[in-house]
Amino acid sequence: MDVVAERVAALREERIDHRFKGLPPDAEGLTVGELADQRRTLADGGFTTPLLVLSAAALDHNLAVLEGWTTEHGLAFAPHGKTSMAPQLFARQLERGAWGITVAVPHQLRVCRAFGIPRVFLANELVDPAALRWLAAELDADPDFAFVCYVDSVRGVQLMNEVLLAAGTRRRVDVVVELGAGPGARTGARTEADCAAVAAAVGAADRLRLVGVAGYEGEVPDADPERVRAWLRRLVALAAELDRSGAFADAERIVISAGGSAWFDAVADVFGGIGAMSAPVLPLLRSGAYVTHDDAHYARVTPFTRVPGRLEPAFRLWAQVVSRPAPGQAFLNAGKRDAPYDLGLPTPVAVHSPAGLRPAPPELRVSGISDQHLWLSVPPDDALEVGDLVALGLSHPCTTFDKWPLIPVATPDGIVTDYVRTFF
Ligand SMILES: Cc1ncc(COP(=O)(O)O)c(C=O)c1O
Repeated sequence: MDVVAERVAALREERIDHRFKGLPPDAEGLTVGELADQRRTLADGGFTTPLLVLSAAALDHNLAVLEGWTTEHGLAFAPHGKTSMAPQLFARQLERGAWGITVAVPHQLRVCRAFGIPRVFLANELVDPAALRWLAAELDADPDFAFVCYVDSVRGVQLMNEVLLAAGTRRRVDVVVELGAGPGARTGARTEADCAAVAAAVGAADRLRLVGVAGYEGEVPDADPERVRAWLRRLVALAAELDRSGAFADAERIVISAGGSAWFDAVADVFGGIGAMSAPVLPLLRSGAYVTHDDAHYARVTPFTRVPGRLEPAFRLWAQVVSRPAPGQAFLNAGKRDAPYDLGLPTPVAVHSPAGLRPAPPELRVSGISDQHLWLSVPPDDALEVGDLVALGLSHPCTTFDKWPLIPVATPDGIVTDYVRTFF
């Protein structure tokens, strides 16, 4: 067993207790592995509501789809780990050929390293001195650890270099210049001239090595297929120009990285046209949200609205009707602490009552969300009653995973076969 598989397997030894909401109170004291081996059912396994559930079949499907996509299009893959922060899913992504895992901030990098992830791409600037000192020690301790992060300013490069010099680090830290996605976009140097200045600063920094360029097309202002492709072409041209100038002279491979879960079709098109460079190129896709997909935001923006293919929403949130105080109103026992609300509210997909399971009527809507309640607007003739369960589709994955430290994974017939641990 490799080190990642071994450390992930050790998660089965963790004890179930009050830290893990939704799990059966009578499972207290069992290990996660023991509970998984009991193969409890969602229907009568003693789970409490609200309960977030992952679909085993949807996860398998989505993992396979992006594995296939990246292989078919010659892309290396470092799925964004901040989506799930679930090392069990990282392990599955690596088993399916991912080059490494992407993260956004130093503590996520530490989670990756705690689970032995050998290659990490930090798609962000890193100028925190304590985090840099830790990173330097980690690099020096493990010659096989591959790490790359963004730089987008001369000052940032200088700050990094000063800390690394003072720490006496032996290995250099690999960096890529981040090209901003356009005027008013998030991080990233705004112009090619700015990027060249940052690259020159890296060239002069003793403890850094420039290995490529990167950015995030998901931040292209007023994104549409043409604007996104135009920005991706700028990124590829920037890499070629920096290469011509000798900026990657020390790199063993040149990293060109972009790509979330909304535009991997455009990334595949444009990266497909990357020409030969002075070292082998690593065209690196970083989609993360694909792993669970969703029922609203990503369902609307996935490339599979433009090209053939399909991802499956893997989350269902089960909540119970706890109050039906007026004819058009019902309240569920899930709120902001259980469901994401930053890119749209949950949507009812099914109702489970003593009469059985029925699809939720389109008029049954979530009209609001409080800390611990979902507000339901109920059509006049609907039979929804206190005690009924409502299954909700969610939008979107990142702010779902961060509310649930241990998530049951169920088969289509509701047998829980595994539990996914998250580390935010
Ligand atoms: C820099 C960067 N790369 C990749 C991703 C992954 O995108 P997605 O969540 O759409 O899969 C994100 C998401 O926010 C990101 O910020």
